[in-house]
Amino acid sequence: MKDFIFNMPTKVVFASGAVNGIGQVCRSLGGTKAFLVTGRTSTKNSPYFGQIVKSLNEAGVAVHTYAEIEADPSVETIDRGASVMKSANADVVIAFGGGSPTDAAKAMAMLQENEGSILDYMRGRRKIASAGLPLICIPTTAGSGSEVTAAAVVTDRDSKEKIGISHESMTPRVAIVDPMLHVSMPSAVTASTGIDALTHAIEAYIAVESHPLSDASCLHAIRLIGGYLRRAVANGNDIEARGKMALASLMAGIGFNHAGLGAVHGIAHPVGAQFGIAHGVANGIMLPYVMEYCAMADYAKFRDIAVALGEDISGMNERDAAKQAVIAVMALKQDIGIPETLSALGVPPTAVDTIVKDAITYRRLPNSPRQLKIEDLTIIVERALGIKIV
Ligand SMILES: [Fe+2]
Repeated sequence: MKDFIFNMPTKVVFASGAVNGIGQVCRSLGGTKAFLVTGRTSTKNSPYFGQIVKSLNEAGVAVHTYAEIEADPSVETIDRGASVMKSANADVVIAFGGGSPTDAAKAMAMLQENEGSILDYMRGRRKIASAGLPLICIPTTAGSGSEVTAAAVVTDRDSKEKIGISHESMTPRVAIVDPMLHVSMPSAVTASTGIDALTHAIEAYIAVESHPLSDASCLHAIRLIGGYLRRAVANGNDIEARGKMALASLMAGIGFNHAGLGAVHGIAHPVGAQFGIAHGVANGIMLPYVMEYCAMADYAKFRDIAVALGEDISGMNERDAAKQAVIAVMALKQDIGIPETLSALGVPPTAVDTIVKDAITYRRLPNSPRQLKIEDLTIIVERALGIKIV
């Protein structure tokens, strides 16, 4: 049996209508001046945005809205936001939106009590020494799991790199998960964020650092995504599917916050940063290629994934049962409209070296069950480009 530590400091409030309790949640953390971080367009226009502000005002909490976060938030956006947050003299931070506003809010809250630019922390020039402002997250997508993780991913647009920073003190204090907020999510966003959640669950389940509690969380997340992602994409008003996907994203987040990610994210980050491909889509494209390459490291876990995704593996040997997990992911991708190859989104064959050069530096690459060197990553990326037939 593996030794492990399990620490889940985020209080989770999971309920339809939970968003209306944000004012009291803020007060319970001692907040009187909230800095509300959200995206530039869609989330601000959501009817729930008004409900959040109303609940805060009714609880006597002043609100400063910062609706300036773009997809894949940049160093500049976060530094600027951190400076505005300081001027606002906020005592609590609220993130309302998908993974991008959540990660941005996390980084900005940290910078309230730690000097310098976010770039200093991304480059390792400074270390996080103090806990930032308390953070409450209200996810509007079912994918990033960022509402329960210690990490934030920031894009350096100059070097075209996406870099994660992580510290236990950055973990949100409260996550308010309200599936009703996900109903208006367009089906393409449901698909890309949902496949991101599946990637988190699978990468953390097969990770070197996985342990029994992260496994339980990840495997159930895989089961839920296998059962409900197609339904959520097919009909956004399917409340049961929305609820199960919200739960799956949360459980995958808890899983990967403990077990860590691996090569899929390691490759998806440069793909996203260099070619502007959405995080979930980049992960969704890479996931089966990485799975197929890594399966022989742990057939038993891949067999579990196949079963969790609803595959009938009876009578199969362990190798074939493991491969069935890859086939199931391919089928799910196809059904929800995630492209099969990077080439389909315009990534040229000449990009292999620049993608691999960045991916090999990914901090969690050794967490992949099969230990991957440059030659291995090259084969995987070539396959994902359709250069070599799997
Ligand atoms: Fe992700």
